[in-house]
Amino acid sequence: MVENGRIQKAFPMDAFLIQGGRRLKGTAVINGSKNAALPILIATLLTDETCTITNVPDLRDISTTYRLLEELGKKVTVTGKTVKVEYRRKLKTKAPYKIVKQMRASILVAGPLLARFGNVRVSLPGGCAIGMRPIDLHLKGFETMGAQSRTEQGDVVLATEGLLAKRVRLTFPSVGATENIMMAAAATSGTTIIDNAAREPEIEDLGNFLTGIGAVVTGAGGKRIKIIGAAKLHGSRHRVIPDRIETGTYLCAVAAAGGDVKLKGAEPKHLEALVAAMKKAGAKISKIPGGMRIVSSGRPKPVSILTKPHPGFPTDVQAPWMAYMALCSGKARVREEIFENRFMHAAELLRMGASIVVDGNTATIRGVPDLSGAEIMASDIRAGAGLIVAALAAHGTTKVGRVYHIDRGYERIEYVLRRLGAKILRVKE
Ligand code: UD1
Repeated sequence: MVENGRIQKAFPMDAFLIQGGRRLKGTAVINGSKNAALPILIATLLTDETCTITNVPDLRDISTTYRLLEELGKKVTVTGKTVKVEYRRKLKTKAPYKIVKQMRASILVAGPLLARFGNVRVSLPGGCAIGMRPIDLHLKGFETMGAQSRTEQGDVVLATEGLLAKRVRLTFPSVGATENIMMAAAATSGTTIIDNAAREPEIEDLGNFLTGIGAVVTGAGGKRIKIIGAAKLHGSRHRVIPDRIETGTYLCAVAAAGGDVKLKGAEPKHLEALVAAMKKAGAKISKIPGGMRIVSSGRPKPVSILTKPHPGFPTDVQAPWMAYMALCSGKARVREEIFENRFMHAAELLRMGASIVVDGNTATIRGVPDLSGAEIMASDIRAGAGLIVAALAAHGTTKVGRVYHIDRGYERIEYVLRRLGAKILRVKE
C-alpha cells in the first residue's frame, strides 16, 4: 500500500485519561462515514478499472480494508483522505482469517467476488462483544440468486455457475446483507429486487457508487431496491457521505458535558430520530449552513428510546445516549432491539456512579446529578464512545482502557475533543 498521507498510529494498550467537567466549545469537522466507506471500498472489487474514493476517514477498520483489498490483488494508494484503488493482478477469491477476524465487514467481499468469478471463500467472522452476528441472510440472498454455500474448515464457501438476477426478500433489514446482495446484483445482468432492504444512509451512498460504476440502482434508502446489473463495470470517482454516528456521538458528548459546538459537515437528515430525542431531553440543536449546532441546556429530561433499523434510533448511538441519560432528572429506559448483547458499557457506567439496571434487552436508568471519574474499559467501538461521553461529563479523572476499540471508528477523537476544550490525553499502559 502506498501512503502519502497521515495514517492514525495507535498502540494496542493505549488508554485515555480524561479530566471531566469542562464545557465544550468551538467547531468540530465531521469525517467521512466509516460504514459507508467500507462497502464502497470493497465494491471497487467489482471492476478492474481505477476508482478514486474521497472523504475516506483515517481509521483502523479502513486500513484493515486496504490490507484486505491488497491481499485480494488490488493496489491501494492513500493520499490524505483520497484513496485510489487500481488493478494490480487478477483477483484472488479467498479472504483469509487473519484479516476477517479483525473486521467482520470483510464478509462483504463475498458479493462482488462471487458475482465476478463464480466462487469465493471467506473465513466465518464469528461472534463479537455485542452478539452472535450470523450471516444467514447474506447466504440466503446469494442462494436465491443461484449460489450454493457450505462451511469448510471455518470458511464459508460459495459457488455458482453464474448468478441470476432475482427478487430477494430479507426477513430482517440487515445492513450487511443488503450491501452484499446489492454488490452481487451490480455485476449480475438483469434486474434484482431487494425487498425489506435496510434503509440506512450508507446503503444509499453505496447505491450511488454502484450507479457511478455502471449499474443502475434505484430505491436505495427505501424498502425496495432495484438493481440493474451489468456484466462489465467501470471506474469512477465518489465522495463518501459524512459519518452520522460520529456526529451523534459528539452531539451526546456536548449535551452531557455542556457547551456550544458546531459540527461542520454533519447531515441532520441522517439523524432525525436522535435529534428528536435530544430535543425532548432539552438540548438545542439547529441546522446551520454546512452543518449542525448544539447548545446544551443543563441536566437532561428523561427520554426513553428503543433502537431500530434506520430511520429509527441508531443502535450505534445507544451507548453514548445511555451515558447522557445517566445524568437525567428522572427515569429513562433504553431498549436494544438490534443486537442481543449491547449493554457492556452499563457495568462500566455503574463504576462512575450511574444507576442502571439491565434486564434482558432493557436498561432502566435512574438519573444521577453527577458522575465521578473511575478506571473503566471499552469493550467495543460504540461502548467505548459512550464511556468517553460519560468521562467528559464526570467530575474527576477517568481512565478509559482498551482505546484500540475506539480507534476502529473515531478519527483522532482526542485531538477533536481537545480543540473543543476537553482535557484528554492518550497514554500508554
Ligand atoms: C452494520 C454496521 C454496524 C451497525 C449495524 C446495525 C457496518 C460496517 N456496520 O452492521 O455499525 O451497528 O449495521 O445498524 O456498516 N443479522 C442476522 N443475520 C444476518 C445478518 C444480520 O441475524 O445474516 C442480525 C445481526 O446479528 C444483528 C442484526 O441482524 O442482530 C443487525 O445486523 P446488520 O444490520 O446486518 O448489521 P451489520 O451489517 O453487521
